Amino acid sequence: MPNKIWRVMDLLDWTSGYFEQHGIPNPRLDAEVLLGHLLDKSRLQLYLHFEMPVFQEHLTPFRELIKRRIEHTPVSYITNRKEFLSLDFYVDERVLIPRPETEQLVETVLATNTDTPQRLLELGTGSGVIATSLAVHQAEWDIVATDISEPALAVAQKNAEAHACTTQITFMSGDLFEPIKMIDIPEKRQFDWIVCNPPYIKNVERDSLSLDVRDHEPEIALFAGDDGLTVIRRLISEAPQYLSPNGKLLFEIGATQAESVCALINAEPAYCRYEFLKDYAKKDRLVLASVPSAHIPV
Ligand SMILES: C[S@@+](CC[C@H](N)C(=O)[O-])C[C@H]1O[C@@H](n2cnc3c(N)ncnc32)[C@H](O)[C@@H]1O
Repeated sequence: MPNKIWRVMDLLDWTSGYFEQHGIPNPRLDAEVLLGHLLDKSRLQLYLHFEMPVFQEHLTPFRELIKRRIEHTPVSYITNRKEFLSLDFYVDERVLIPRPETEQLVETVLATNTDTPQRLLELGTGSGVIATSLAVHQAEWDIVATDISEPALAVAQKNAEAHACTTQITFMSGDLFEPIKMIDIPEKRQFDWIVCNPPYIKNVERDSLSLDVRDHEPEIALFAGDDGLTVIRRLISEAPQYLSPNGKLLFEIGATQAESVCALINAEPAYCRYEFLKDYAKKDRLVLASVPSAHIPV
């Protein structure tokens, strides 16, 4: 960055050009978000202060943010912020950055709710966006959220605190349903809903991922064996043991996994029906499977 008097508009032009040279996908947007973050201004406010000079006290840290972005650190890890269903969440490299597709999972649960408060289990909570946004919208629901990663659970806990949901969500650490087996009251091991956004990328797809994802997001949140189904396979076969009569399992899948997932559900007699829900790109993205009213949890 050459030495001169910099105004907001010059900085944005220079930074977006520099990002473009380095193959950063949304150069202008990223420049605006990062400068706005540093100056504590929204993108609109930046435009309203286009002529404002930016002094050394901000230029030095801004150079550091630019450097991190050139190394393909995702913008959300630099700003430690991600919006999900219009709520603000803290994120860092301990957790997956929540994706817009996952908002649909939460909206599906909220759209099919009953008047009765529900017991809901979220497996693989990561930053806690699913559990926390459900708790914010359904203050009477009892939610258990688990993750195999203790560092991720610390982030989820922080987000639940920020949204005043800690009394409503019980966080537990462990592999898939293992923590639930430790609950000593049998009724507390039964759920009306089990929801999950599992890891589902095949190991061989590693090199096709963007550098932002491949080099910065937690591996445990992304990869699921040679066929991408190691977690989904267990989820489908084990969930019925923890579902109440009429209970529902709702989970996200990869854009090309519908056929394999269909075969896995058909092989599991506990489910009485299931459907795929499409994302905004018209790809099968969510699976909603139900057990019947006569279902007997083990
Ligand atoms: C795709 S991320 C989803 C995070 C968050 N729920 C979201 O939608 O943004 C998957 C999460 O599952 C967790 N995970 C992976 N394998 C797991 C397992 N066997 N048992 C529990 N959690 C697991 C990862 O640590 C990660 O936080």
